[in-house]
Amino acid sequence: MSQSGVNKGRRRFLIGATSAIGAVGAVGIATPFVASWNPSAKAKAAGAPVKADISKLEKGQQMIVEWRGQPVWIVKRSEQNLADLSKLTDKLADPTSSVEQQPEYAQNEYRSIKPEIAVLLGICTHLGCSPTYRPEVAPDDLGPEWLGGFNCPCHGSRFDLAGRVYKGVPAPTNLVVPPYNFISDEVIEVGVDAGGNA
Ligand code: FES
Repeated sequence: MSQSGVNKGRRRFLIGATSAIGAVGAVGIATPFVASWNPSAKAKAAGAPVKADISKLEKGQQMIVEWRGQPVWIVKRSEQNLADLSKLTDKLADPTSSVEQQPEYAQNEYRSIKPEIAVLLGICTHLGCSPTYRPEVAPDDLGPEWLGGFNCPCHGSRFDLAGRVYKGVPAPTNLVVPPYNFISDEVIEVGVDAGGNA
């Protein structure tokens, strides 16, 4: 009986160790400009926080990490991107993030801890598709007023580079900002905030 207890404990440890390796592996998938998302079965099962090494992320680039089987986008915004955010207020449904779609520490102009680094759950708040990162300004298909953001291919919802939803699209709310914290300037931990809350 005690033997089976030991085995169970060991199995739990092994599962934990495997998850930890999976989390470290996620650091390696810094894939700027990834346009589609195919979560693995392993990622779907994983619920633990994941770490992301952002040391190689350049301004204007997006990387994606898996967290709880969902894509989390990390985007490094340029000074111009940040300046452009304030120009969009009239076009947005909830420019001040009054709806609780982010932790308190991200309820600010940039919806982030550090202005230049956006961390967003890459799931459309309409019916759950994963929007496409469209950082370019005024592309033909999005129109002359587009200043970069995310466009959902399913029903056309649009979000700015802070994940704020435009008016008049199917998505009702801004994108979710997951809990996260900076372990260092170069490593973000997604899934838990600085106080250890998931
Ligand atoms: S799921 Fe994104 S617009 Fe419908």
